[in-house]
Amino acid sequence: LGTPQSVRGALIAVEGLDRAGKSTQCARLVENLQKQGRNVLHLRFPDRSTPIGKMIDSYLKGESQLDDHAIHLLFSANRWEVASNIKSAIAAGTDVVIDRYYYSGVVYSSAKEIPNLTVEWASWPEVGLPRCDICLFLSISAKEAGQRGGYGSEKYELREMQDRVGKLFRELVDNSQEDLVVIDAGKKVEEVERIILEKVGESLKRISGGTTLREVT
Ligand code: TMP
Ligand code: MG
Repeated sequence: LGTPQSVRGALIAVEGLDRAGKSTQCARLVENLQKQGRNVLHLRFPDRSTPIGKMIDSYLKGESQLDDHAIHLLFSANRWEVASNIKSAIAAGTDVVIDRYYYSGVVYSSAKEIPNLTVEWASWPEVGLPRCDICLFLSISAKEAGQRGGYGSEKYELREMQDRVGKLFRELVDNSQEDLVVIDAGKKVEEVERIILEKVGESLKRISGGTTLREVT
């Protein structure tokens, strides 16, 4: 009685090619939301700290080999192991900012062009995960990303793979609904930061208007 109705937090994902600037922008977004007095949980996938995450880390570094379907399912399991934490944080009014989420899961695996590892196959294990309210896709060409100090030496950090990943991301953007927002990541860091904050602000407004947290379908 008389107390303001508590509003749930927002689930915000940041996606894009390797070197698109996701880590920088996630850190800035978290800071900006905190400055507004919001509670924020900052996550990233893969979360390399868990037992599953360690298997993923070793695969990405080329220290172990795994079947393409198997590694795909590990990436997904790595999300499922924190799904309930995400849900309870959101319910408690905390915003969750995630550096890569199920979009990366679908796009990277299917970009490997393995027979029967289609986008459809790759999407199934993600069904039921908390769906983001907004996904900021940091758009940059594979060429430009490659020029940003060059790629590292991890598994997928190859130009051809990145080209295919970029193409699949764009297809996903074209086929998806309102929750995917394309951001030109070729702009100055501060400009990208400003646009992201503006888009997230719009999403926060929709949430305080009462939109519920959905699941991936
Ligand atoms: P990171 O560079 O953001 O740590 O991600 C490591 C690599 O893993 C990157 O090339 C993208 C890829 N990836 C997948 O293949 N599937 C996934 O589900 C996720 C989250 C990342
Ligand atoms: Mg990387």
